[in-house]
Amino acid sequence: MSTRPSRHRSCSLTPLTLALVAAAVLAVIPTNAADTTLKDVMKKMNTQVLNGDAKALAPLFDATKAKSKPEFSNWNAISDKGKAAAAAGDLAGAKATCKECHDAYRNEYKTKYGSKAP
Ligand code: HEC
Repeated sequence: MSTRPSRHRSCSLTPLTLALVAAAVLAVIPTNAADTTLKDVMKKMNTQVLNGDAKALAPLFDATKAKSKPEFSNWNAISDKGKAAAAAGDLAGAKATCKECHDAYRNEYKTKYGSKAP
């Protein structure tokens, strides 16, 4: 009296469910690959610098800050400094922070997380 047909059906679904979960997990692992979102932000940075439009850089410094990694301890401070200069219309001041971040972190970010990540 306790053997109802529906119980068998739900048991046979379990291996399929596990297989789907495993497939989903495997599909997620390799996405730790090249991330070009910061590179795209940088292209916009460069365009606005060439345009001489300091104020347009401010939101791009926010986007840059959002890509920070914990081991790059000055990344947030540099981004904030660049944003403050940009918002004040100080193009030279903003450009100084481009160099500051590039000298400190550009290559490491690029090869570990960015456009050249494995
Ligand atoms: C807080 C860090 C940081 C700041 C600030 C920053 N950059 Fe970058 N920039 C990077 C990193 C990291 C890369 C490498 C991104 C990659 O290739 O994944 C990069 C790459 C670039 C590139 C190369 C893009 C390409 O096509 O390969 C240009 C151009 C650039 N930055 C311009 C600028 C300009 C202009 C500013 C300032 C107005 C600026 N950056 C500010 C971190 C920064």
